[in-house]
Formats: sequence, C-alpha cells, structure tokens
Amino acid sequence: MSNRLVIVGTQWGDEGKGKITDFFAQNADVVVRYQGGNNAGHTIAFDGQKFALQSIPSGIFNPRIKNVMANGMVVNPKAVLTELAGLEARGVKEYQLFISNRATVVMPYHMTLDGAYESFKGGKLIGTTKKGIGPAYADKYNRIGIRMGDLLDADYFAERLRDALAIKNMELEMLGLEPYGFDAVYEEYMEYGRCLSRYICDTSVMLNAEIEKNSRILFEGAQGVMLCIENGTFPYVTSSSPSAASVPLNTGIAPRYVDRVLGVCKAYTTRVGEGPFPTELDGDLAHYIRERGHEYGTVTGRPRRVGYFDAVALNHARRVSGVDYLALMLFDVLSGLDVVKICVAYELDGKRIEHVPSTIAEYARCKPVYVEVPGWKEEIGHIGSYDELPVAAKNYIGKIEEFTGVKVAIVSVGPDRTQTITVKQLW
Ligand code: GDP
Ligand code: IMO
Ligand code: MG
Repeated sequence: MSNRLVIVGTQWGDEGKGKITDFFAQNADVVVRYQGGNNAGHTIAFDGQKFALQSIPSGIFNPRIKNVMANGMVVNPKAVLTELAGLEARGVKEYQLFISNRATVVMPYHMTLDGAYESFKGGKLIGTTKKGIGPAYADKYNRIGIRMGDLLDADYFAERLRDALAIKNMELEMLGLEPYGFDAVYEEYMEYGRCLSRYICDTSVMLNAEIEKNSRILFEGAQGVMLCIENGTFPYVTSSSPSAASVPLNTGIAPRYVDRVLGVCKAYTTRVGEGPFPTELDGDLAHYIRERGHEYGTVTGRPRRVGYFDAVALNHARRVSGVDYLALMLFDVLSGLDVVKICVAYELDGKRIEHVPSTIAEYARCKPVYVEVPGWKEEIGHIGSYDELPVAAKNYIGKIEEFTGVKVAIVSVGPDRTQTITVKQLW
C-alpha cells in the first residue's frame, strides 16, 4: 500500500479537506499544501477546540509532523506570521514548518489589484476572496513574481521588486490607483523574510528525501476541482489547480509518486462566490441545509450557496483528478428530509448530457436530471460504524457510489475528529 495520499476537493471547495487531512495526519509524517494560499479556510475540530487554517498545513498541531508549504503555493508572509501568532496564542507552540523558497509571494499590490479587477467587472464579478491570489499567480506566469527565497537575498530582492513595481505601478496608475513606493514595500518584506527565514528552504529536496525514507505523506489540496483553473467552471474559478495532477509540478516530486487520491465531497453541494451551479436550491430546503451545515464561509463569512449532490460534477472531478476513494462529508446534515435527490445528468437545450460543458454560457443553461431516494429522520452524529447507519442513509451512500463509480472509504458525521466512520482503511 502506498504511503502517500492526496486529499482533493471534488466540488467547489469547503468539502471538509481540513477535517480529513487532520484525521489522516494522526498517522502521517508529512503534510503538504501544494497550491492556493490564504483564500483557503480549513476547519479542524478536536478535543473541544476548533481551528481555521488558511495557509498553514493541517498537520501543524502535531509536533512530530513536518508541514510543508510547497512551491505551487502563493504565500502572503504577513498572513502566515499572523496565523502562526494566532496558533501560538492558542497553545500550538511546537511545530515543524517548511516553506518552499520557490513559492510565490503575495505582494500588497496583488491584493489591491484583486479588489480593483472585481470592482471593474460590474455584474460579472467572480466573488474572489480578495486575498490577491489571482494577481499573484498572474505575475508568476508573467515572470515578474517574487519568490519566498528572494526575500532572503537583499540585493536580488531589491532588483526583483524594482522590476515588478515598474510594471505594477503603471497598471495601478492606469486604473486610477495609488502606486506603491519602493522603500516601504522593500523594508516591510525584508522584515517578513527575516522573520520567516528559518522556515524557508528547498522543499522539493526535502520531500524527495522523505519519499526515499518511505515516510507517510499527505498532500492537502485547497479549493476543489470545480474551481480548478484548468478544469473548473472557468472563469468562475480560482487561479491554481487543486487537482491531484498538479501535485508533482507544485511540489517538485515525480508524477509516479502520486498513486492514491482521496476525493473529498459533501453529501450535498455548496459553492461560495459567483458562477453557475446546476443543483442550487433556494427557499426552505436551502435554509435547512445551510443552517444544519453552518454553511457560512470560513474566510469571508459569506453564506454558502447550497444544492443537491451532483454526480455529473463529481464524475468530472474523478476523471480530471483521478479519485480512488471518496470521503463523504457532512452526512449528518441530511437527516430529517423526506427525500434526497442526486443529480445524475444535465439537460442542455433539450438534450441529456453526462459531462460538464466547457463554457459557463452552456453550463448556466444546464438543468439537473435527478433520481430521488428516500430520506432518513434519525440523527447520526453519534454513530461510530457504517453498519449502525439508518438503512436509507446506507442506500443513499450506495447510490452515490453507483453514480460516481467510486467507493466511499470515509463517512463523516460531524465536525469533530472523532465523528469519522472508516469504511475502508486507507492507511
Ligand atoms: P475545507 O475548506 O474543505 O477544509 O472545509 P471548511 O472547513 O471550509 O468547511 C467545512 C465545514 O464543515 C467546517 O465548518 C467543518 O468544521 C465542518 N465539517 C466537516 N465535516 C463535517 C461533518 O461531517 N459534519 C458537520 N456537521 N460538519 C462538518
Ligand atoms: P477551501 O480550500 C471555497 C472561491 C472564491 C471565488 C473563487 C476565486 O477552503 O476549500 P480566489 O480568491 O481564489 O481568486 O477566488 O474561488 N474560493 C473558494 N471557495 N473554498 C475555498 O477554499 C476557496 N478558495 C477560493 O469564493 O468564487
Ligand atoms: Mg474552506
């Protein structure tokens, strides 16, 4: 059995990746965040405490675990320092953290531009988290990005920042925004570099050494495949690829080491931010699910849009990311419904389709085709084994397996680490 496991969100984010990463981290040596930045909000609950992590990997609570922020991430150093201070204030004082010297730095102008781009989009705004994620990735691909390792070299950083500001300030001025002065930004970011220097290293070398030792490595995805820049509902997506396919590139390991993928999905669907969502619900049912699932954004506090489980979207995630098993999350939320629906196909302009169209123009016209299964009344948050689940609940799980072609390995019946039913042992 492989000692590596990739945890991938298979919907539009917030599937419970933090909880599942923490659950498997109890037996892991290394936890790696491979993309995204502090747009993520991963909630972890254990021993009566609740933590929301943004950039820091979910293994941080165990001093034995090496936590890696890999090269594919965009890192806001100020936010990382704030997050670490917050953890330390709550007693998480002993931890191991490694930040890739090749990870891209989120600069202050990225956050300004994120807000500005959104305000110019009028009715077509993406609803980003305004953390500067898109502009930071854009600069990376435009080769004017600054990397974490650059902050450790005073002269080189000065050169990189000067070159970047020459372009970014022109852009800001064109948009009617204040340009950034070199000195203030330089001093501030040099200081962040000094504060974080003990964590910054070549995490690819380190990860390959861990693979050599056959260490247990968890790759913790952020966002979800439907928000993937390559395969998501473009342009209503994030600017990185949460898919398992991005793990090798974004961590500096060989593709052959990505050999087991756990897809994390809610027992229903949520989406925060704009963009088409075929199974979206409104009215009393949406309210019922939103309140039972506390469906409000971890990062922005926005109410999440909620809908039925979408097997077409899940199949899309399975195809583009490779999903070996599913972790079915927030299953306890669905108790109390008379019937539960699963979307098994879409109807697009009168034709049945079983795939996600490439344009959101088409996707917005897709109507869900549902199968209905009986609901169950019993609360299940206290249940510790699959067999004890109500018959109708097990039937629903069976239908999800049937329509997605993936076996459910984990059923989550509450936010706490202990509220986790293992159906198939993954390690
Ligand atoms: P992530 O971004 O994928 O890590 O997910 P979030 O943490 O943003 O959102 C998931 C939310 O659901 C968090 O508030 C979790 O505490 C909560 N949660 C996770 N699993 C369960 C579950 O099985 N049942 C319930 N009721 N809540 C859960
Ligand atoms: P986790 O890891 C849910 C959404 C935003 C917006 C779009 C683009 O907690 O699952 P961005 O700031 O990335 O440019 O925003 O992506 N989004 C998320 N939605 N969970 C997340 O992360 C998200 N990260 C970004 O709401 O629609
Ligand atoms: Mg989240």
